[in-house]
Amino acid sequence: MESNLRVNFKIADNTINPNDVPKRKLRTGDEIPAVGLGTFGSDRFSKEDIADAVLGAISIGYRHIDCASVYMNEPEIGEALDIAIKGGIAREELWITSKVWNDMHGKGDVLVSCATSLRDLKLDYLDLYLLHWPYPNYHAPGCDVDSRNPNSNPFSVEEFMGTWQQMERLVDMGLVKNIGTSNMTIAKFKAVWHLMRIKPAINEMELHPHFQQHDLYDYCIENGIQPIGFCPIGSPTRPDRDKTDQDTVDIEDPVIIAAAKRLGVHPAVICVKWASQRGQIPIPFSVKEIEYMGNLNAAITNPLTDEEMTAISKIDKGCRLIKGQVFLWEGANGWEDLWDNDGTITK
Ligand SMILES: NC(=O)c1ccc[n+]([C@@H]2O[C@H](COP(=O)([O-])OP(=O)(O)OC[C@H]3O[C@@H](n4cnc5c(N)ncnc54)[C@H](OP(=O)(O)O)[C@@H]3O)[C@@H](O)[C@H]2O)c1
Repeated sequence: MESNLRVNFKIADNTINPNDVPKRKLRTGDEIPAVGLGTFGSDRFSKEDIADAVLGAISIGYRHIDCASVYMNEPEIGEALDIAIKGGIAREELWITSKVWNDMHGKGDVLVSCATSLRDLKLDYLDLYLLHWPYPNYHAPGCDVDSRNPNSNPFSVEEFMGTWQQMERLVDMGLVKNIGTSNMTIAKFKAVWHLMRIKPAINEMELHPHFQQHDLYDYCIENGIQPIGFCPIGSPTRPDRDKTDQDTVDIEDPVIIAAAKRLGVHPAVICVKWASQRGQIPIPFSVKEIEYMGNLNAAITNPLTDEEMTAISKIDKGCRLIKGQVFLWEGANGWEDLWDNDGTITK
């Protein structure tokens, strides 16, 4: 961890005022900062570097941190949060998200998972707890995309609701303020919506200029679910196992590059601007101060023009990067089975 901030945490002289960062109001009335810091290290960045980035990001104005137990760095991030809070950042100013991993859907397990994240993050409540995937299908960390868990199964309303009811109990217990979903589809939402006592405040979903998910995005907005967009820059540093020859590169798109040239910024910053102007909450990852500062500034300064927003709306390539192959069950045809593209749940 960066020794100066660890020993003497302080707000950076060049900080962005957190009050200048837009907020989105959720169905619960809570307000979430419109840009967050991602913390998935993609097997490339150490836990310590990511914890440093969390501390550095808070010191330059970030108040929203996107965590997950499966990123295996919550204890290190917890130390960073503890330093920031002891260093004068009020807990209520921070928005901390965590997620229950697929191997913790069993009865009672969601409570254990949430308690573990709270312990690791050194917090007594979470602002948002997400069901990371709508399946209990899991795999060993870092495994090959072709590996299959023989216990994996297609989506089940009963299984999902058993897990969601545990999420609802966390709200009742005061351990989490908001609950939400991730990696959902419209068909799956429709299958469980009427059964949910507490509706999701958030759906975290893959969103970047080459993967805009118009239908799901609109469905979320129409139903009062705020989208958080992951891989907002097109995840150039994602693990090699998640790369295919067909994948396109958002930050090399001529439309993105033209806007970047006009504003004199990196194309990544244009992706973040597009996301925040469209209405989703981007959670870009970076451990480099110049990058994470640029990403937070993106939501505050020099907006894209209407023409640029229109031009970007036309470069959607339907290029899903996080395909989820390892969550497939035996007998599935391919990763498309996870995403219900024809509007029905694949059985
Ligand atoms: N819910 C889910 O299932 C799910 C799935 C995936 C991700 N997530 C969350 O979403 C977060 C973000 O996604 P991601 O980490 O995959 O990808 P991303 O944020 O799209 O891309 C991150 C990479 O972009 C580059 N970058 C960032 N800011 C930049 C800037 N201003 N200028 C130039 N390059 C910049 C960095 O690469 P260099 O180091 O090369 O500069 C960085 O490693 C994750 O960390 C995680 O918290 C959630």
